[in-house]
Amino acid sequence: MNFDKKRSVAKNSFVRNSEAMLNGIFGTTDVTPFWVADMDFPVANPIKEELQRLVDRGQFAYEFNSQGVFTAISDWYQRRHDLSLNVDNFVQVTGVLTGIALLIRELTDEGDSVLIQTPAYHQFSKVISTANRNVLKSPLKIVNNNYQMDFEDMEQKMAASEVKVMILCNPHNPVGRVWRKEELEQVVQLANKHHVTIISDEIHSDIIYSGHKFTSLMTIDANKHVALIGSPSKTFGMQSISNGYLYTENTKLLANMKAFAESLYIDHGNAFTTFATIAAFEKGEAWLDAFLVYMQGNIDWINDFLWSELPQVKMFPVEGTYQVWFDFSATGLAGDELTKVFGKAGFGASPGSWFDGDAKHFARMSFASPRSEIKQAFERLKDVLEQTAVPVSGINKCESNKATSAGCC
Ligand SMILES: Cc1ncc(COP(=O)(O)O)c(C=O)c1O
Repeated sequence: MNFDKKRSVAKNSFVRNSEAMLNGIFGTTDVTPFWVADMDFPVANPIKEELQRLVDRGQFAYEFNSQGVFTAISDWYQRRHDLSLNVDNFVQVTGVLTGIALLIRELTDEGDSVLIQTPAYHQFSKVISTANRNVLKSPLKIVNNNYQMDFEDMEQKMAASEVKVMILCNPHNPVGRVWRKEELEQVVQLANKHHVTIISDEIHSDIIYSGHKFTSLMTIDANKHVALIGSPSKTFGMQSISNGYLYTENTKLLANMKAFAESLYIDHGNAFTTFATIAAFEKGEAWLDAFLVYMQGNIDWINDFLWSELPQVKMFPVEGTYQVWFDFSATGLAGDELTKVFGKAGFGASPGSWFDGDAKHFARMSFASPRSEIKQAFERLKDVLEQTAVPVSGINKCESNKATSAGCC
């Protein structure tokens, strides 16, 4: 797989390229889009071949295979994460957000609150508020150049009787943390104490970099919580042919969720999502390993560039996901002003203000793109920042970069 190959110029209507969106966000379409958490690469050959097989067959009679999907997923978890999942404990849904939307309706009543940790993936507040539930935020805190959970704040918030559910994001979009076992144990202990059910969104669980180990909430407490909700979409770049699944060992919740999904007729994928998912989990491993090596190269390149050329832009360690979270505070730019600079530089990162925290000096970049495009975008950003940004004095390179998991330098 050649990940260096430039993005296809073939006509497409990908959200990331939408002229209306680009104009709306950046005020121009002359932008390299890094603002959607998807990727610029073709899927692995076995997925393409499977989709081609279906197209060539030319018949699209009713055809379901949820059991095949669950078997492929549980084999994958065994091989990849050393985790044994029972195929009978899955519920198939059309995507992770659909699953979360159903779970919120199942586990809470209108007017209840759902806890999220901010900065947070921006659809979480939408999926909560569109169900007429309240969004309650527990801000993550920055300690030693990286994000940590604020357990004191979480406990205070969980203690309120109207807080019934927490959405945990592991690995965390946008800050890139892969939560450690001890951190998850502490969250579960608090949640159990205050009768809060955790929905563990583990959609990024396969995008983990060296030195970090993914721990599924499954291994901490699969009985009380929706210990796993996932999809092949991030792992294999299948965002538009996605397929979601949730997993719990709570028999009552499992039965209710199976019935809920069935009542809406969304408990099965279509032929494309079904067979692409099976092919991905059965035959996509070599592609994923190569992809992760390339992604690590992108992280290293960005880290080195900031270190030597743009020390005023701080990058947080990327432990997992293909999102990187930047702090632009030292440039003196924030909010609309920062987004305008991105537009001028063609640097299509998402404004931090989208992520539900006090993050107007921040930005998120999705870096699953050819390195040459990333390089070009950063060179342009550097030029524009040099002309625009408030001159920065006294930046200690050691403090601002490099992003290492151990903290500074
Ligand atoms: C944490 C997280 N959850 C869910 C989703 C969306 O999942 P789906 O497309 O399966 O609804 C995303 C997409 O970026 C995400 O980052």
